[in-house]
Amino acid sequence: MDKLLIRGGRALHGEVLVSGAKNAALPELCAALLTADPVTLLNVPRLQDVSTMLKLIRNMGVAAERADDGTVRIDASALSTPEAPYELVKTMRASVLALGPLLARFGEATVSLPGGCAIGSRPVDQHIKGMAAMGAEIVVEHGYMIAKLPTGWTRLKGARITTDMVTVTGTENFLMAAALAEGETVLENAAQEPEISDLAEMLIAMGAKIEGHGTSRIRIQGVEKLHGCTHRVVADRIEAGTFLCAVAATGGDVVLRHGRADHLDAVIDKLREAGADVQAVEGGIRVQSAGGATLKAQGFRTTEYPGFPTDMQAQFMALDCVAQGTATVTETIFENRFMHVNELLRLGAKIQVDGKVAVIEGVGTAGRLSGATVMATDLRASASLVIAGLVATGETVVDRIYHLDRGYDCMEAKLRGIGADIERIR
Ligand code: EPZ
Repeated sequence: MDKLLIRGGRALHGEVLVSGAKNAALPELCAALLTADPVTLLNVPRLQDVSTMLKLIRNMGVAAERADDGTVRIDASALSTPEAPYELVKTMRASVLALGPLLARFGEATVSLPGGCAIGSRPVDQHIKGMAAMGAEIVVEHGYMIAKLPTGWTRLKGARITTDMVTVTGTENFLMAAALAEGETVLENAAQEPEISDLAEMLIAMGAKIEGHGTSRIRIQGVEKLHGCTHRVVADRIEAGTFLCAVAATGGDVVLRHGRADHLDAVIDKLREAGADVQAVEGGIRVQSAGGATLKAQGFRTTEYPGFPTDMQAQFMALDCVAQGTATVTETIFENRFMHVNELLRLGAKIQVDGKVAVIEGVGTAGRLSGATVMATDLRASASLVIAGLVATGETVVDRIYHLDRGYDCMEAKLRGIGADIERIR
């Protein structure tokens, strides 16, 4: 099992390239199932989750080739098996994104329930509710969702779908299903993340009729067929936010090439309140900091976009741990997303957790975190431990970094490129 060995205490300087967004590439690989024409995706990040999704669609009989420059060519004309089997779905919840496209194009889909994961139970009841609203008959048995159109139907029917809570992949499934449905679909309470807008732009390039994406109400007029397209995956705002927190914590001056400051308002506001200097520059974002110990710890509540992203909670908490003062962090989206806390405590952080609330007392100038061996438990928790290790005195070893590899494209190489003392040990 790979580990990362980090020697803390070095400021970061230079430029780092932000890769394509994991949470846009995954639904967009599924969107390619909606047409028999070839689809080309550009700027697809090199991630374990992308490899898993490629395996999933190839398993259906889809041709998918990935080039070294991040171009992925998909040809779903010969799709023969509209299924997402458990052994693939259990490793990646996002496999549920196959449900909408398979139902829309083939009128049937057999998709394994994702099962829980480290950060929570991850139910898909809203996905089922939305597909049923469009006419699909879905039964859940033996751990699978088995969905099909009613006898005599050739297409899903447009519907008004109001989910009980905002769901990102739920909204994405509905967008893809509605694109080929008969009539109009209105999504109320839709997710507003930039990845939703990026998916909608790709679907529009394929001939879909969508408006309102990026707001909480999206209208889709179904069409008979969708054609191929070439689409560039939007830059990953969570990877960019992770690097912003890393540089704020270590100190330094770094430009994140391709980073979109307009996708990170809530995080950048908090970094500025902490005392870091973050500016949108031509083609990216520049962050300058005198180091975490000079910054003021910032409290925040995670909420749906455009609020503070739950996917940035662990990384910003690592920054709070090394800053001055006390901060309160509230996680409102997932029920178990504080597993990085126990590992941060091993590095000398001062954190008290009570349910959904964590109170962090930054060590500031009084002391430093001290390096130790820590264990990654989930994707963003891993990133949090890397940030803490970059600041801690001595050596930090982050174990089980397969979690990190799911969502970060060569993180240690990018960090080394801006001066971090970090290496992967097999
Ligand atoms: C997406 O997950 C992201 N994954 C997650 O990123 C992200 O943390 C999450 O959205 C929230 O922003 C992808 O886009 C591939 P949800 P998703 O459906 O769609 C509940 C990362 O680190 N819910 O928006 O699965 C759910 O339990 C990953 O990159 C239901 O109850 O999240 C959660 O409490 C982690 N029933 C809340 O809604 C449902 O049918 C939000 O979940 C669906 C969701």
